[in-house]
Amino acid sequence: MELTIGVQTAAYVFASILFILSLGGLSSQESAMRGVKYGIVGMLIAVIATVFGPNMVAGMTGQGYIIVAIVIASTIGIMLARKVEMTSMPQLVAILHSFVGLAAVLVGYGSYLSSIDPSNVIDLTGLDAEKIAEIGTEHTIHVVEVFIGIFIGAITFTGSIVAWGKLDGKIMSKPLNYPGKHAINVLLLIICVVLGVLFAGGLSVDGIDPMMALYIMTTIAGFIGIIMVMAIGGADMPVVVSMLNSYSGWAASAAGFMLGNDLLIVTGALVGSSGAILSIIMCEAMNRSFISVILGGFGEAAPSGEAAEIEGEVTALDHAAVVDLIKDAKTVVIVPGYGMAVAKAQYPVYEMVQDLKDMGKTVKFAIHPVAGRLPGHMNVLLAEANVPYDIVFEMDEINDELPDTDLVIVIGANDVVNPGAQDDPASPIYGMPVIEAWKAGTVVVMKRSMAVGYAGVQNPLFFKDNTEMLYGDAKDSVSKLLTHLKG
Ligand code: TAP
Repeated sequence: MELTIGVQTAAYVFASILFILSLGGLSSQESAMRGVKYGIVGMLIAVIATVFGPNMVAGMTGQGYIIVAIVIASTIGIMLARKVEMTSMPQLVAILHSFVGLAAVLVGYGSYLSSIDPSNVIDLTGLDAEKIAEIGTEHTIHVVEVFIGIFIGAITFTGSIVAWGKLDGKIMSKPLNYPGKHAINVLLLIICVVLGVLFAGGLSVDGIDPMMALYIMTTIAGFIGIIMVMAIGGADMPVVVSMLNSYSGWAASAAGFMLGNDLLIVTGALVGSSGAILSIIMCEAMNRSFISVILGGFGEAAPSGEAAEIEGEVTALDHAAVVDLIKDAKTVVIVPGYGMAVAKAQYPVYEMVQDLKDMGKTVKFAIHPVAGRLPGHMNVLLAEANVPYDIVFEMDEINDELPDTDLVIVIGANDVVNPGAQDDPASPIYGMPVIEAWKAGTVVVMKRSMAVGYAGVQNPLFFKDNTEMLYGDAKDSVSKLLTHLKG
């Protein structure tokens, strides 16, 4: 089967529209599923139109190999995605970004090597000066695309692997600090620009020919990716993952330019720009500077001092006493966090919500933009348990209601309800907007111990007079509360 160029172009335009609809759908919980389906159909059309398109079929003997590779890779992808725990999603996303980066690097080398292959070099004899100049310009544009594509791809590749390691606990999550960090980054960038000029000009200086310039730049870019992400601290990783998402989009777009594939250019640009917008939204949610993230100096933006000494005493209740508090409350707000995901407590939590509603209470969920380990983590978990969207509120929508709320139940959340983010300038999360749980009448915090959250700081909320701890695994605790409520 061979599609004509017209059919392929039409398929590409249709796939691009589906990708735009997909992104639009993903902007709200109600339409997210629809958005995912648009994306799947769009990608299917894109792959078919590319594999069976004219560029692919003409003179190509490898089409069969490509189909076999797609089938094997898709099977591995489906198996891995089915197996991976919701709590390990960020690691999966990070490692997938690294594949996009590596693909851009390989496409870059492939594209350059084929352009200098003697069988592909255009014979200039007999051509007029204008035509020769035009071919020369096209070649320069192509090598610049190759250079930039490989540069972004290599940074994305190594940066994503380090992000995966940090998220998976295989690499220390503390920011790596060393003297002259920014000066070294700038120096490496200048060296890459010089190598780029040598490469684009086809020049050889001191034994460094264009190919060698490309090798050196790839190594340096890979090193920049490593030190850039190593310099970023654990609590700031969500923004890094979304920034790498953006980089992987630009890397794909660059690959699209190298291959002359319009759909790849459009799709890469969509991923690149939506990832950048998501990063800006997350930076705002965490009160961080977007520019310092891009420059890899993000870890430095956060105060690195020790959090202030916490005053007050921690008090704990048993399940029966917490049920009494719940029964007395008219308005209840539930703040889920990473611990709810670990415990897979969303199902009993929703069962409890239904019981409380049957008892005539007003129950709402308060979601922090970076609760859990990836954007929208809590929304996905609640949707999985069929929690209706109209009782799920974003932090900004619900904070003003908390002073009039009788009871806030914090389930496996920690950093996102830490008052130190507002009143302790030495806290590593100072400046990050948080859910002001402490303003409610009473707060019950469900977690297993007094252990710290992701940012590694103790939470003064646990020491407040109106806070009671309920220790234990979140799922187990909620199940016990349910038994007491029904009993
Ligand atoms: P965290 O601050 O990480 O706190 C989670 C708490 O859950 C822990 O203190 C832990 O205490 C408790 N926990 C763990 N397993 C539990 C279980 N089985 N049952 C009950 N509790 C359990 O979570 P958060 O409040 O959701 O904040 C998220 C943090 O992750 C932020 O610092 C954020 O910046 C960061 N982060 C977010 C993202 C995104 S995009 N969402 C990505 C990466 C990092 P115990 O050990 O005492 O039980």
